[in-house]
Amino acid sequence: MKNKYLYIQTFGCQMNVHDSEQMVALLSGTGYKLTDNIKLADLIILNTCSIREKAAQKVYSELGRLVKLKEQNPELIIGVGGCLAQHLGTKFHKKALHLDIVFGTHNIHRLPQLLVVIERERKKITEIDFYKSINSIGVFAPPQRGAVSAFVTIMQGCNNFCAYCVVPYLRGPEMSRPADDIIEEVKKLADCGIREVTLLGQNVNSYGKTLSNGLNFTSLIKKIGKISDIERIRFTTSHPRDLSDELINCFAEEAKLCEHIHLPVQSGSNRILALMNRGYTVEEYIKKIDNLRKLSPSISITSDIIVGFPGETKKDYQETIDMMKKIRFDSLFSFKYSERKGTIAQKLEYKVEESEKLRRLEQLQMLQNQHTLEKNTALEGSNQELLVEGKSKNSENDLMGRTSSWRIVNFKGELELIGKLVDVKISKAYLHSLRGKMVNK
Ligand code: SAH
Ligand code: SF4
Ligand code: F3S
Repeated sequence: MKNKYLYIQTFGCQMNVHDSEQMVALLSGTGYKLTDNIKLADLIILNTCSIREKAAQKVYSELGRLVKLKEQNPELIIGVGGCLAQHLGTKFHKKALHLDIVFGTHNIHRLPQLLVVIERERKKITEIDFYKSINSIGVFAPPQRGAVSAFVTIMQGCNNFCAYCVVPYLRGPEMSRPADDIIEEVKKLADCGIREVTLLGQNVNSYGKTLSNGLNFTSLIKKIGKISDIERIRFTTSHPRDLSDELINCFAEEAKLCEHIHLPVQSGSNRILALMNRGYTVEEYIKKIDNLRKLSPSISITSDIIVGFPGETKKDYQETIDMMKKIRFDSLFSFKYSERKGTIAQKLEYKVEESEKLRRLEQLQMLQNQHTLEKNTALEGSNQELLVEGKSKNSENDLMGRTSSWRIVNFKGELELIGKLVDVKISKAYLHSLRGKMVNK
């Protein structure tokens, strides 16, 4: 089989990153080799995101840059997949005339066949049908050489319909993947040298609801914990409403479960939370954080916040700031509300001015930076266990590892430590990373 080259660019969340890995695996079976040199590519795929308008704009601007490449090489095949492709469907072809394939979030498994059609007939194709279950969910993506950490999809879709969010429309209804398939995949990954798995789903706490065997998310974590070569388990994302006491206890019970939870709160105002259709109050959220910290004192808590949701007054915003001061997140992703077509929030009144949203965002991010640095600085002098992921980005001579709490630590060490757990003493804290020195176990 002649080698053809695939260049793939991923936008959006970890779910999309993993979908791209699965596309690469599927296409390698039909002779496509991955390249990071776009000029070599016979096939370019953009795996797109539509969560905010800015994410969509990024895709359009990347696509614009591909026009020239297509002019130079008319044989080049250009495909767009993922959430923006799901959203636009055939309209995508009208927006970008140099596109060959538009495929949706449930149609990844069709890529090899679609490419055969394109190569034969050179016609424009759109496939965005939803299936009852995503056919590519079980495609095994072999980890890159030297990788120590991998994603494992445990569920698809979302039923929550938060008022601002497009995901339920673009990824379909929530469905859990059978536990046996997940376990088998984790074992296979362990055989390839993977030591840490991150379980992926839009709302992992409700894992198992669509299965008939009664296995829930906590039991799944414990089952994975029994696979001996897997040292660390993470998951993302969990919905505060569905975070059970059982899962909170699991942080104390399951040694392999990392001391980190990403628990998006979105707002500190109960009025806004209700408008967002989040299904919990600030008080309920704080209670869960307190319980987590009681059982697992060094747990790191990170979150997402949206500012400027329709109707968010200065008072609502101040309540978000007050909540942040009370909780003190270890780290935070914050966004300006972005209106999405077809969502419930699109129809709400009292939209907040763009300049006001920006003001709120900047102020909030300044406060969070203080908190993040404070939390990092508190670790100076402490010993931390790291899983060594590879060479440091900052310096050729350094290695990079992550703490159980998901912090990056750079330190001096030999390359053979990659993939191993080591202990370091933290010597210096920065906003985005820590510096450490190895200590003997
Ligand atoms: N399923 C996950 C992640 C969803 S997307 C969850 O429920 O937590 C990641 C984050 O993007 C969300 O937590 C939210 O903070 C943000 N987001 C989603 N839609 C948005 C919108 N329309 N405008 C601004 N931020 C948005
Ligand atoms: Fe979107 Fe809410 Fe579902 Fe997360 S839980 S994907 S924010 S609808
Ligand atoms: Fe974006 Fe889709 Fe993920 S909209 S954030 S790629 S689920």
